[in-house]
Amino acid sequence: MADTEDTRAGPGHSETRRDFLYLATGAFGAAGSAVALWPLIHQMSPAADTLALATTEVDLSPIEQGQSITVVWRGKPVFIRRRTQEEIDEAQAVALDDLPDPQTDAQRTKKPEWLIVVGVCTHLGCIPKGQATGDRKGDYGGWFCPCHGSHYDTSGRIRKGPAPENLPVPTYEFLSDDLVRIG
Ligand code: FES
Repeated sequence: MADTEDTRAGPGHSETRRDFLYLATGAFGAAGSAVALWPLIHQMSPAADTLALATTEVDLSPIEQGQSITVVWRGKPVFIRRRTQEEIDEAQAVALDDLPDPQTDAQRTKKPEWLIVVGVCTHLGCIPKGQATGDRKGDYGGWFCPCHGSHYDTSGRIRKGPAPENLPVPTYEFLSDDLVRIG
């Protein structure tokens, strides 16, 4: 499979295209065309009551090791992955010198088992693949953004491709072992 592919248009790709357009709201800086995008963004913005949900509480108990879920927080997808020991070991073993946006795994997690990141590619705002079983997860086992070929590792850090930064870690807090509040 090619390293890049255009998933933003064409028959059978309407969902991805919609995701891309919708999530362009988070990519002003990277897109460099905020003025041109604004009317579209404004039209597609989430309802005010959605934006007002400053926090989202998530029950983690159904998530098994190796599984990921996507929740919506402030109109954005948030990826929650319950990492396997192998994924944790991989994330912790990386030398900072190998990272375009150097951050240790410990700086990005409160509990090694749980990785929580905003699921919006830091290049131009696509939603990376890697959440669903069978998704391509990229060369580093985390997520792969097919729009222009960005590869993220098991800590959500950019490792290869045009994305300039790691997937952002939102503010969150564990309310108990099985309950997390995002925001
Ligand atoms: S939006 Fe370009 S690589 Fe993800």
